[in-house]
Amino acid sequence: MDDVSRQGFLSRRGFLKAGAAGATLASLPACGATELGRTPLAAPIGVDDSSWAHVRARFMLEPGLAYMNNASLGMPPTEVVKAVCDGYEAISREPLQGKNDLQVIITNQVLPRLAAYFGADVGELSLTRNATEGLHLQAMGLELNPGDEVIITTQEHPAGNMPWALRKVRHGIKVTEVFIPSPFESGEQVVALMEAAITSRTKAISFCHATRGGHLYPVRELSRMARRHGVMSLVDGAQAIGQIPVDLSDLECDAYSASLHKWILGPAGTGFMYVRKGARDQIKSSFSDQSLIDSPSLGPGGTADFPVRAALSTAIDFCNALGAEKIEHRCRYLSDYLKVGLLGIDGVNILSGSTPQISCPGSTIFEKMDLDAIKAVSLFEERIGTHIDEHQRDGHNAIRVSTHVYNTTAEIDRFLEVLSEARA
Ligand SMILES: Cc1ncc(COP(=O)(O)O)c(C=O)c1O
Repeated sequence: MDDVSRQGFLSRRGFLKAGAAGATLASLPACGATELGRTPLAAPIGVDDSSWAHVRARFMLEPGLAYMNNASLGMPPTEVVKAVCDGYEAISREPLQGKNDLQVIITNQVLPRLAAYFGADVGELSLTRNATEGLHLQAMGLELNPGDEVIITTQEHPAGNMPWALRKVRHGIKVTEVFIPSPFESGEQVVALMEAAITSRTKAISFCHATRGGHLYPVRELSRMARRHGVMSLVDGAQAIGQIPVDLSDLECDAYSASLHKWILGPAGTGFMYVRKGARDQIKSSFSDQSLIDSPSLGPGGTADFPVRAALSTAIDFCNALGAEKIEHRCRYLSDYLKVGLLGIDGVNILSGSTPQISCPGSTIFEKMDLDAIKAVSLFEERIGTHIDEHQRDGHNAIRVSTHVYNTTAEIDRFLEVLSEARA
């Protein structure tokens, strides 16, 4: 190492040591990236493309590609990518110091910011690698005896129903699946269907806040109904958080797990599990070291992906700078634009719920007569570099288009143009 590099390295090291509590790793040299992610992000004023052009410019997607599959995996903005890079640089340059500094960022910034953004106490949150891990931990953590019943719906993601299937085999519980139509008519309809299934053996209901198809469930009403029956409410929030403002205490559910790499635009491999303070005696840690550590976390202990987790503070800052309501309105503007276009195409049947109360702002599902949804995915990718997804479930042969704030009406126009000509 020459003198100049040594000096730079030492001063960065000094920064890392000194900056423990309040610092982000943002002042480390970035991994060959531009300064783009370092300039303050202004909150957009309107909902149209020009108001959001500077937000779109924060993403590093290959020119010519349109990414409309956010419900599968979100696209992190440049600053989040840089924060991950910077974190890896820190633990690579000086592993133990870097690890300590990243842990401080996770404790002092990530957890409090997540808690504030989602209306929870820090002690109610445990970081996980994704929603799947959280959903598994919340299901496994619930105390159940053989013969006890858990009610789920026909619209669960495998991450939401597989843990119960495992408990059925391993612990002899009963799992009852309630059919929910797609789309359903109203939140009241969902509550009535779930309530009708409750028996004297029911101990919990487990359901999505937003389904893969973008149907929005009435979480608070379901949680209240469950409480009236003395039943726990456990929620899969993977598709909801980041699309709509979510206040966990306001939802009144007992547990809620979500991914942070979808609509929150965090780095891949991030999520959380929330367990309401008052529910911690019923939903317990699956790990034996729970009593050995001071941390209230119910998640796995041991060495974690520190750089990835620490970068969550940048992702939350990004969402905060835009504003949760503004994100929702922008997403709704784009999906409304898409839906109006779809209405003008022969043979298209929109399957998203008919009101904002029961349909997500970002995910839209529809079928087109004579068009196989799985084939459509590669057709759009190959013809116009547009990424979408299929939704061949809930009895549909549907296409899912999930648009986030960074998409544009021009991208949607191009998609609609090709859709109007597309055949099987
Ligand atoms: C409703 C729902 N739940 C859970 C998951 C799993 O999320 P993750 O990959 O973060 O575990 C998904 C993923 O698409 C989902 O759509």
